[in-house]
Amino acid sequence: MKIPFVDLKTQYNSLKNEIDSAIHSIIDRTAFIKGPEIKEFEKAFAKDYGVKHCIGVANGTDAIYITLKMLGIGAGDEVITVANSWISTAETISQTGATPVFIDIDEFSTIDSSKIEEKINPKTKAIIPVHLYGQPADIKKIKAITDKHKLFLIEDCAQSHFAEFEGEKVGTFGNAATFSFYPGKNLGAYGDAGAIITNDGDLAEKLRMYANHGALTKHNHKITGINSRLDTIQAAIIKVKLPHIHEWNNERANNGAYYDKILNGIGDIIIPPKRENVKHVYHVYSIRTKHRNELVQFLKDSDIGTAIHYPVAIPFMEAYKDLNYQPSDLPNAAAFQDQILSYQALFYCR
Ligand SMILES: Cc1ncc(COP(=O)(O)O)c(C=O)c1O
Repeated sequence: MKIPFVDLKTQYNSLKNEIDSAIHSIIDRTAFIKGPEIKEFEKAFAKDYGVKHCIGVANGTDAIYITLKMLGIGAGDEVITVANSWISTAETISQTGATPVFIDIDEFSTIDSSKIEEKINPKTKAIIPVHLYGQPADIKKIKAITDKHKLFLIEDCAQSHFAEFEGEKVGTFGNAATFSFYPGKNLGAYGDAGAIITNDGDLAEKLRMYANHGALTKHNHKITGINSRLDTIQAAIIKVKLPHIHEWNNERANNGAYYDKILNGIGDIIIPPKRENVKHVYHVYSIRTKHRNELVQFLKDSDIGTAIHYPVAIPFMEAYKDLNYQPSDLPNAAAFQDQILSYQALFYCR
């Protein structure tokens, strides 16, 4: 049996009628841009998160960029973030003209909260932790740091839809949280899509304005913005999928526990350590082994797909060579990048 790293077709088949009719209805009404499905999704997502505002945007990268811009971050500022993430978390900081300051990862592959304060200086404006692989970062400690130093806190929730830290949803701790609905994410559209959630009404208005060419109403451009609207068809698809996210997340967590059971103690495999008192939503199941290449080949020979998140930590990428980070600055990120391997965590057959 072939086990691809991501299987999007089986999930589609399970909701085919609803998804097909949602898409056809938009085409029938030619409601391609700013269709009612966008507001309906935003309302449902905000309600499920228990927050006041959700702003749909074109993708998870724009969600971070727009948030940084509307919090006033720009040239001369520093934003603290984590060394191991998808490049969006850092490149958006750079796009604003600010400088990303990278912190090493802890044993959970999230930002090491004990190493943040030593990097704070008068230029520091914000912290962006990433709840990577579906596991919450040490968010209460991070929030205590942002409160103490009066910094903005933006949670990158691209991989952690509805994950929880001590019973509270991650994404509700900071000034705003950003989401990706890239097809392979826990809540995935059929193209690019993203959103920002916040309880701050003034910020919500600015975010909405900036994402829509700086205008809240047509031809009323108050600032120069960008075109980063959530597509109506994508909104309709994730709206159909939203009621199923908890069932899928539970299935991912069950599969995580099953992997733990069968992989623990095999060779030098380190199963993913889990924080106490969190709801980990297993965007991927990420192990570590010093024999990664051999394991990848072995699994490939057995038709089992895997992936690496990520093979090069962001500060060590060519794009960031000017910042001159050395492996000794970020020892865990440097070591883990050669050892991590992700297994798919959502299956429909076992
Ligand atoms: C941690 C993280 N942040 C940001 C993003 C960016 O999202 P998108 O691909 O929707 O732009 C991703 C998506 O891969 C991600 O995994």
